[in-house]
Formats: sequence, C-alpha cells, structure tokens
Amino acid sequence: MSILFHTDWPNRDQWLDGLRRAMPDARIRVWPDIGDPSDITFAVVWNPPSGFFADLDRLAGVCVMGAGTDAILAKGEIPESVPVARVVDPVMSNRMAEYVLAATLRFQRRFDDYALQQSRQEWQRLPQKDAGSFHVAVLGLGQIGRLVAGRLAANGFKVGGWSRTAREIEGIECHTGSDGLARLVSWCDLLVNLLPLTTQTRGLLDRDVFWAMPVGGGIVNCARGAHVVTADLLQALDTGQLSFAMLDVFETEPPAADDPVWSHPRVHMTPHVSSITNIETALPQIVAAYDATRAGRPMANRVNRKQGY
Ligand code: GLV
Repeated sequence: MSILFHTDWPNRDQWLDGLRRAMPDARIRVWPDIGDPSDITFAVVWNPPSGFFADLDRLAGVCVMGAGTDAILAKGEIPESVPVARVVDPVMSNRMAEYVLAATLRFQRRFDDYALQQSRQEWQRLPQKDAGSFHVAVLGLGQIGRLVAGRLAANGFKVGGWSRTAREIEGIECHTGSDGLARLVSWCDLLVNLLPLTTQTRGLLDRDVFWAMPVGGGIVNCARGAHVVTADLLQALDTGQLSFAMLDVFETEPPAADDPVWSHPRVHMTPHVSSITNIETALPQIVAAYDATRAGRPMANRVNRKQGY
C-alpha cells in the first residue's frame, strides 16, 4: 500500500516532509516516481497532470490539498467509485475572511482613488459611504463564505449572501435561485465571489450581473477565474459601470504577459493567495482521510461528485 503525492506548489518539499513526519509508517511515492502502480491505494494531490490516475487500479481514496476540487473533477480521470475528500479548515476560512475584509475596506474607504489622486498631486476629499450603508454580497455560503459574511457583518457592513441551497445565517440576508441573485446583485456595492466552480457557476459573473449592479460598484474574486467573463468585467470597468476589481484568481495563472488585467488601473491583483492551505492544520485531515480509507470507513469532507464540490 503506497500513497502517491503530487503538488505544483512551491512549498512542495515542506509538504512532503510534513507528510513523512505525520505518517512515518506509510510508503509515500512522489509523482512521477510511482513505482508499481498497483501498489498505490491513496493519493494526496493538488493539480495533478493529465494521466496521473490512469494506471492506479487499486486506488481507494483521494485527498485534495485545498478547498476547491473543480480542477481535479473536471478532468474526469478519477473513477466514480473512488471517493474524493478536500480540506475544510477554519484557518483557511479565517485567511479568506481577512483578505475579503481588507479588500472591502480598501474599496469602501477609497484607498485606490486616493492613491490615484496622490500620483497626480491632488488633494480632495471624496464622498464615502459608512460601513452601515455599504452593501456587500457574498456569493457562496459554505464553510468559508459563512465566516467571511459574518466577519464583514461584525465590522458593521450590511451583508447579503447567495447560495445554491437556502441558508439561514443570523445577521445576513440570505438568497437563493436566480431571482435571489438578481435581487442581491442590484442591491450590493461590492460583490464577493466565493462560489465553487461548477457547470452552473462557470461564467456566472458576466455583463448581465455587472450591469445590474449599482453604478460604480466593485467585485472581489477569490474563487476561480472561470467564474468571471473577464472581457465583460474589463468593459464594465472601462465604462465606469464598475470601479473596482480585486482579483486573486485567473483562468490562466499567471495570466499571459499581454493580458490587460496586468495593467488595468481599476484591477488589483494578488497571485492566488487569499486562502493558502495551512500545512499544520491540513496534515491531520489528510492523515485522517488516509486512515479512514485504509479502515474502509468514509472520509470526512467528502466531495459530492454530482454536485461538483
Ligand atoms: C485554493 O484555491 C483552494 O481551493 O484551496
């Protein structure tokens, strides 16, 4: 019985050391050095290359090293019978809440407008909404979205949320369905995307959404680049329909050198860092997933393959 490990993250060696320390008795093989494929019963992965699962006939479980499983499921290479789990970690939710709160304050307090003024040696007070009248819509109310919405509300913002299944969260006006989305979008000053990427949510944030928002609104995308139709977003920013985009994720990462997002004055980029997986708290979950698989028990945080997350 061996575990096959792969990630393209720069801290791969740290992960490998951590796994070896957490599972001293396990045989861990590092892709592409897989040895005898029929010996592999478990995989710990992020962004596996095509063909990764091809010969793993005895694979009994997969644990993805992050929250999103869209990329691995989209490839369709893991047999339906093999359960897939993901990391669900309060530390990651907290990291996301910090990022979104920082982005929200940045936009609400108009720091980018003042930076622009500074570059022109302009000294002018701009109108500003207080948090209590600044509306933030959080799309996606899973483990992460709920904490993010709560953190914003605790900081005085008016928060609405949207999710596939109806939710009740104290202090957050929750919506569902396409009518609910339309209501929320036309109400919000800032739209925060934390949705899982599925066939239903791919390209959801398009011109219809951007033009339904109040003029001058903003967007924060911390989910996946493919949720956003980038050409529509840039047009909304160019015309002043929207005035702020804080983007942590892109369809191609990093974006191509000639991608206009790099230099757009209203686009603020970070390199997919809004909620990096925390090794110390993720490792025990991965070990538990492996132990459960070995014992023939169901893994925690198992992905619903039909639902896509
Ligand atoms: C990062 O994008 C993750 O899904 O954990």
